[in-house]
Amino acid sequence: MEDWRAELEALEREGQAAIAAVAGVPELEQVRVQFLGRKGRLTAILRGVAGIPPAERPAVGARANTAKAALEAALEARRAHLEAAAREAAVARERVDVTLPGRPVGGGRLHPLTKILQEICAVFVEMGFQVVEGPEVEWDYYNFEALNIPEHHPARDMWDTFWVNPASAGTERPMLLRTHTSPMQIRVMEATRPPVRVIVPGKCYRYEAVDASHESQFHQVEGLAVDTGITFAHLKGTLQRFARRVFGEERRVRFRCDYFPFVEPGVDMSIDCFVCQGAGCRLCKGTGWIEILGAGMVHPDVLARVGYDPSVYTGFAFGMGPARIAMLKHGIEDIRLFHGNDPRFLRQFA
Ligand code: DAH
Repeated sequence: MEDWRAELEALEREGQAAIAAVAGVPELEQVRVQFLGRKGRLTAILRGVAGIPPAERPAVGARANTAKAALEAALEARRAHLEAAAREAAVARERVDVTLPGRPVGGGRLHPLTKILQEICAVFVEMGFQVVEGPEVEWDYYNFEALNIPEHHPARDMWDTFWVNPASAGTERPMLLRTHTSPMQIRVMEATRPPVRVIVPGKCYRYEAVDASHESQFHQVEGLAVDTGITFAHLKGTLQRFARRVFGEERRVRFRCDYFPFVEPGVDMSIDCFVCQGAGCRLCKGTGWIEILGAGMVHPDVLARVGYDPSVYTGFAFGMGPARIAMLKHGIEDIRLFHGNDPRFLRQFA
């Protein structure tokens, strides 16, 4: 057999084997160059046949062409096969296993302060009060003046104030961050005529050292009822109902005289200690009673200032700190936990 024929057969055989062994499309190109490229093995063989008789040359050419065609077909087939396999692998990688358990979604929940605010408001809404809100940046007039707390009044010491525009700066209308929700009493009465029954939740601010029971930003809930014939009995009944709804129907309440410039008489209300049932414990500091809010009959001068005739109308008002209510209810010992944003604390109120 002629040398060139054996060489071409070997070329075809080895080429097929190399193509079959290739594992990826890029190596396939290397094999093509190696066997069929301009400087590849086929070219080398054809160069080597220069010496054969011209009559035989067409046979060489024909055999070379079939070898070339066979390898090209094999290359193409292998390429198609490798590409299909790659596609299948990609699909397999991306397949969704619908039997896998889902990823848990962390549900949101209301903050304990939001919950207590809603609970307090709901108790009063049931009794016919309407929820209203007011500005946190307030005029001195509403926060102090209109509530019988004129400039230099010693009662101003009760409320350490963050000033936005202090009177000392020469401003005609000093402006502050409200130190309590009581200014909304004035705004509501200015805007409406009796009967008035409102409950006002909102944020307040005091320039205070922060400790386990005081923060410089805190909430209050204010209440106000004004109409003809409102007496201290209405105040007692309303607030006793509130105390029992929040702290248990067996609660007893106690009112003692206290001083707030915008009420007369002014009182504070305590509930009997629900931990020791009045015997005396750490929570009630041995007294058997826990103070939960301030209240009183709206001062006649306050009514007169908003244009309500104090000989016709009377009313009661009250104010409380919902954080304190929540702390008592849930046995929380440090008010700073509420805004500490520790999820372990917050999760308990799910
Ligand atoms: N505003 C008072 C405070 O921040 C609380 C208060 C006391 C509100 C008596 C009232 C009230 O409406 O009648 O300490």
